[in-house]
Amino acid sequence: MLSILKCPVCELPLSQVSSSYRCTNEHSFDVAKEGYINLLLSNQKKSKDPGDNAEMMQHRRQFLERGYYQPLAEYLTSEIDFICSDESPVLLDVGCGEGYYTGYVQQNLACQPNCYGVDISKKAVQYAAKRYRDVVFMVGSVAQLPVLDESADCLINIFAPANVAEFARILKDDGYLLVVTPAANHLRQLREMIYDTIRPYESGTSADFGQRFRRIKQHNLAYQIQLESAPDIEHLFKMTPFFWSTPAEKQALILGRNHIEMDVSFSIEVLQKL
Ligand SMILES: C[S@@+](CC[C@H](N)C(=O)[O-])C[C@H]1O[C@@H](n2cnc3c(N)ncnc32)[C@H](O)[C@@H]1O
Ligand SMILES: [Zn+2]
Repeated sequence: MLSILKCPVCELPLSQVSSSYRCTNEHSFDVAKEGYINLLLSNQKKSKDPGDNAEMMQHRRQFLERGYYQPLAEYLTSEIDFICSDESPVLLDVGCGEGYYTGYVQQNLACQPNCYGVDISKKAVQYAAKRYRDVVFMVGSVAQLPVLDESADCLINIFAPANVAEFARILKDDGYLLVVTPAANHLRQLREMIYDTIRPYESGTSADFGQRFRRIKQHNLAYQIQLESAPDIEHLFKMTPFFWSTPAEKQALILGRNHIEMDVSFSIEVLQKL
């Protein structure tokens, strides 16, 4: 079966032949037992184990599982339903992590998408592939996506690295890109507990997106969550990069709390390829 995947060695299309993906130059990539494909070549890695580590990934999963960010998953689903006219659009989640949003969107869209997810963290992709069997997950980098030119109808990119040239290359003409970044007050109370002064997040895509995409819409989704238990606070804290740079005594103070009211605020941009 032909797919949207391309060979990371010679860039020819990959087709699935039983439990591997192959190009006509005989490069072959096995489907791992969890169901994902590793298309990240060792010379594309900047470290031995790139991307989020297993611990961050587990905390994010446990936190997301509690439904605190479900309004974002619902919002993205309705946006994609609105913009995608195709009955079975090709959808790719870039920097998909352990697939919470990829899986949610795939299961809840009104249309029947062909869904893909890509992330540089093998641990995250392993988890995602095991959990969401109807999505094709691969290990790969946003710097050189293992995806054919003009093959996707819609990309989602949530709190993950972006690459304007790669996004424009793999999207079909008029294809859509949904980018989620933290808006000004996102996790304000947590950041106030850590830093003496906090700067509002600068949300949104960088200016260079304007050369390849037109912005159709920007929406801030903001609400408050009540973290009602020490484990939920721990999961949120440890899934952020802040935890790892916070001094031990401040870490202990935050981890000792069992209730925190927290602002969450997402900027969602809908862009269309020019
Ligand atoms: C904050 S997490 C967000 C994950 C997911 N989108 C979510 O919101 O649950 C950022 C993700 O980007 C991935 N990442 C980092 N560098 C990457 C790269 N160069 N290519 C692809 N993914 C990358 C990390 O491994 C991690 O899973
Ligand atoms: Zn090849």
